[in-house]
Parts: sequence; C-alpha cells; structure tokens
Amino acid sequence: MAKNLTRKQVLAGSLPIVAAVPLAKLTWPSAAHGERSATHLGDDRPHEGHAAMIGPEVPAPGGPHDLDALLLPPPALPYRPGRVREYEVVAIDRRIEVAQGVFFDAWTYNGTVPGPVIRATEDDILRVNFTNGGAHPHTIHFHGIHPGDMDGVFETVLPGDSFIYEFRARPQGMQLYHCHATPLKKHIHKGLYGAFIVDPKEPRPPARELVMVMNGYDTDGDGENNFYTVNGRAFYYAKYPIKVKKGELVRVYLANLTEFDLVNSLHLHGEFFRYYPTGSTDHFEYTDTVMLCQGERGIMEIDFHNSGLFMFHAHQSEFAELGWMGFFEVSD
Ligand code: CU
Ligand code: CU
Repeated sequence: MAKNLTRKQVLAGSLPIVAAVPLAKLTWPSAAHGERSATHLGDDRPHEGHAAMIGPEVPAPGGPHDLDALLLPPPALPYRPGRVREYEVVAIDRRIEVAQGVFFDAWTYNGTVPGPVIRATEDDILRVNFTNGGAHPHTIHFHGIHPGDMDGVFETVLPGDSFIYEFRARPQGMQLYHCHATPLKKHIHKGLYGAFIVDPKEPRPPARELVMVMNGYDTDGDGENNFYTVNGRAFYYAKYPIKVKKGELVRVYLANLTEFDLVNSLHLHGEFFRYYPTGSTDHFEYTDTVMLCQGERGIMEIDFHNSGLFMFHAHQSEFAELGWMGFFEVSD
C-alpha cells in the first residue's frame, strides 16, 4: 500500500482531472499502487489506468453512509431557557483511511476526523464531558463567547484525565472547536477539530442542512498536506454525491480546519449561494466561491435553480485533484 506518497507524486498521478471535461478521469489510484502512469505535465497522450470521476468507481474509502454523522447535523432545537445540551467527547488515537488505500495515524475526537458535530441553541448551557483517551495531552478550545477558564488553553487534560467544559452557547452562527495543546500545529493537523453550530433563538427557516469541514492530511510527515477533503475522506462525495432537491433550501455549515495551507476555498458549479461569514449576522455575500483562512467558517444557503449534477470543490485546483471535490445530485 502506498501510504507514503509525496504530494508531488500524488499530484502527478491525478493530473488528468485538471481537464475537468465530462469524460475526464482520475488516475491517482494507479499512482497509489506505485505504478506511475505515463501522465505528467505536458503529456497529452491518452491516459491509462483511469478510475471514474463520479459514482461507485471513484477511489474513495468507505460505504455510502459512513459520513452521515458528520454531514448531517443533529436537529436544531427550539429555544428553551435553561436547557442543558450535553455531549461526550473522548480523544482517541486511531489509524484512519483518508484516501483509498492511504492511512493516517490520527488523533481524533470520538474516533473520527473531523470530530462530532456539536450543536446547541443560543443560551443553552453547553456541557461537554471530555475524556482524554489518547497518548498526548489535549484540550477542547471552542470558538465563541465563554469564560476564560473554559477556553481550552490552560486546563490541559492529561492522558486518562477528564474535564467538563460548561458555558452558555453563544453567539449564534457556525462556530468550531479544536485542540489547543502545544505544539498547536501538530494537535490540529493530527485531526482534533470539528464543527460547533449555535442556532439562533429565533429559528432559521427550515432547510436541508449539511455540515462540511474542509481539512488536509500530511500523510508523509513533511509538513505539507498530501490530501484534502471535506468531512475527512478524499473524493468521498464524488463517489457518493449529496442528494438534494431543486427548489429546496440547502444550508451548508462550512468550516476550514486545514493546517499548513493558509487558505482553502469552496466553489460551487452552476449555481450561486448566499454566504454568511461566521453565520452570526444577516450580512451575506451572493457568490459561487468563498475563500476561508484557517479557522474561518460560515453558512451557505443554496437554492438550486436546476436539476442535475453540480460539482463543488476547492478552487485551488491542486486541492481538488488531491481529494477536495464532490457533487450535489439535484433532483426535480
Ligand atoms: Cu491535542
Ligand atoms: Cu481556533
């Protein structure tokens, strides 16, 4: 198994996707098995060893519902004063498959990268019972408004220890969380992060709600990402397009937890959407492309005007070729 491919090797192997025409094919599976195809920059001969760009033949790990818990957030609850929202989070060291046949020794919250979607309504008491089952000291640092002693910076939780984070969830919007133990860069790139949604007291309009956490994996330890994904697995939503309906409001809670690369982005084909930075105010931009710095996040609202297959991907072509690419399948 080729788990130590360099970024350049993988990129060379996946180059044909640059020509994103309908019949374009991925080739990195052949590279992943060490059989470099004839494909390289400037080579326009027909490519060999291609896999499909969309559908069951796409080289993405796992089954069709593996990422449901990360894609589909728990439902929003109506505002109720004094309610406690309680979550159990355990740090676990785990080897995970991040691209087909490519494994990463991750540090996780609850066994997945990204970690679980945490959701509360504004002013709920958020209580997170955190246990460190990993081999290194960790914390959980939430973005949002909370007391200094709940900030996940000073109360380092040693392996085997626990800590209870408890504070009123606010402000409303798309927030996020990540480990804040040092070295910070390592604790984040190893996989300790996730989405934290705070619903407004006045509920948002009903919608088909999705969560997308953008990330990268440095699988060879050279300080550069070799793969990029949403919700943790390369090309997953190309293998399993996200099914939505024309005319239905689609709301995506989007966050960028990519380490090493300063920015990531999301570009949607064939449609525009409203993008609310951080989702905490009514301010939005109407666009088809958003750029997010590390730790930035927001809420996208899409009204699909057409049915069909619509690609979404990082507009950094390199990231798209290395796994950050998927499709919406819009039905009538
Ligand atoms: Cu940590
Ligand atoms: Cu942060």
